[in-house]
Amino acid sequence: MVKICCIGAGYVGGPTMAVIALKCPSIEVAVVDISVARITAWNSDELPIYEPGLDDVVKQCRGKNLFFSTEVEKHVSEADIIFVSVNTPTKTRGLGAGKAADLTYWESAARMIADVSKNDKIVVEKSTVPVKTAEAIEKILTHNCKGINFQILSNPEFLAEGTAIQDLFHPDRVLIGGRDTPEGQKAIQTLKKVYAHWVPEDRIICTNLWSAELSKLAANAFLAQRISSVNAMSALCEATGADVTQVSNAVGKDSRIGPKFLNASVGFGGSCFQKDILNLVYICECNGLPEVANYWKQVIKVNDYQKSRFVNRMVSSMFNTVSGKKIAILGFAFKKDTGDTRETPAIDVCKGLLGDNAHLSIYDPQVTQEQIQRDLSMEKFDWDHPTHLQPVIPYGVKQVNVVSDAHEATKDAHGLCILTEWDEFKTLDFKRIYDNMQKPAFVFDGRNVVDASKLREIGFIVYTIGKPL
Ligand code: NAD
Ligand code: UGA
Repeated sequence: MVKICCIGAGYVGGPTMAVIALKCPSIEVAVVDISVARITAWNSDELPIYEPGLDDVVKQCRGKNLFFSTEVEKHVSEADIIFVSVNTPTKTRGLGAGKAADLTYWESAARMIADVSKNDKIVVEKSTVPVKTAEAIEKILTHNCKGINFQILSNPEFLAEGTAIQDLFHPDRVLIGGRDTPEGQKAIQTLKKVYAHWVPEDRIICTNLWSAELSKLAANAFLAQRISSVNAMSALCEATGADVTQVSNAVGKDSRIGPKFLNASVGFGGSCFQKDILNLVYICECNGLPEVANYWKQVIKVNDYQKSRFVNRMVSSMFNTVSGKKIAILGFAFKKDTGDTRETPAIDVCKGLLGDNAHLSIYDPQVTQEQIQRDLSMEKFDWDHPTHLQPVIPYGVKQVNVVSDAHEATKDAHGLCILTEWDEFKTLDFKRIYDNMQKPAFVFDGRNVVDASKLREIGFIVYTIGKPL
């Protein structure tokens, strides 16, 4: 039986390995992590991440050929293929701070692999890493290897949260990069065989290591660039009377452009787009390509502009002050169908409003009060560096109150703003909400989910991104 071990039981490691275990009953898969709490949750009925369809997959394989464990070294030493899916956050200090990827977690995993290995192994980069990381990992492994042969492969992950299981079941492509040597090619074939259990062969792309590493950064940069492009257009729509939904639709009908990923929003969030573009920018700068670096930097700048533009619009609409006013925040996760709040635009919007002394009443169907308080108390980029974390000093309940439904959040509020496109926000009883709010009652829709004309009929003053007022 082939044995796979995955280091890192997070948003990528957990679902990816669960699907491999489901699709490959002849392979034993162990997912290991240094976080006892995470592993305990993976072994319980309450999985550590919310992802549609995940419970079902885990239940089918857990205890059969899928195991979650904190015995990192044991499982690593027994495995034939080791996936490394640890976090690769943005550095917060030292060389490249604020841009470069922090490979501390990756390096410590690589050193541990070298330490405990007793037979030849394939080590797979699943985390998103800077191009040429495989070279560094190879050095760490071969200089500590005690005669063992390691083959490094790059196999970046393209799943999106909220649709992870479907993305893993039916990937657009699986990308495997390896060395152009007989051993490297053999390793590629071994990994290809794993995916070939359920992925059509023509969707498994094999490349050299650097192309695979760079393709991942490029894919995220292209995706984020589309959002910044449509968000930049949304500002122009508001200034001219065009409607961004109509513009996106018209533009997306061009088959060379395509209709997906053209929804204007309050800004993109999530753990990866910003981090990966900053990483790309840093690599360009290190390679003497400042013009290329500046091009990609602009994607982040437009995203930051979109978030602050939204806050400024809120404050200026509400007579230039929100001081002491109750504002309902509907949605805190970075997108619907996930409880993940990493780099969610809601953090910047809430901090902007708190800066103007607003009182926030926040509701999200999947995010806990503790998580929201932690997010609002943290410095930029600190969320993925557990060692930097200070104890959370929560905002007082008057300033930030986290509640369990949208009606409670909006009661007596001066304004409500929608920051995540949860389906339930489309069907709220807005008449009841209006009756219970202060007047004039404002709606600020950061996701274009409400029917603005119906809300205006009720009496609301409505602002939606990229639409005529
Ligand atoms: P995560 O923070 O959810 O999970 C990483 C896990 O690794 C954590 O549980 C952490 O405790 C564990 N870990 C860190 N160092 C370890 C060590 N030395 N030994 C054992 N465990 C260790 O992160 P994630 O969202 O799963 O992302 C992982 C990587 O995948 C990142 O590089 C990210 O850029 C990339 N990625 C993420 C997504 C996504 O949707 N989240 C999609 C594609 C790629
Ligand atoms: C993204 C990519 O889609 C994945 O392919 C990639 O694997 C992953 O990053 C990663 O490397 O981590 P994810 O961040 O989970 O996945 O979610 P997306 O659906 O890409 O959404 C990202 C952000 O963009 C969200 O805040 C979303 O609301 C926003 N968005 C998305 C828009 O504002 N408009 C759109 O049209 C699409």
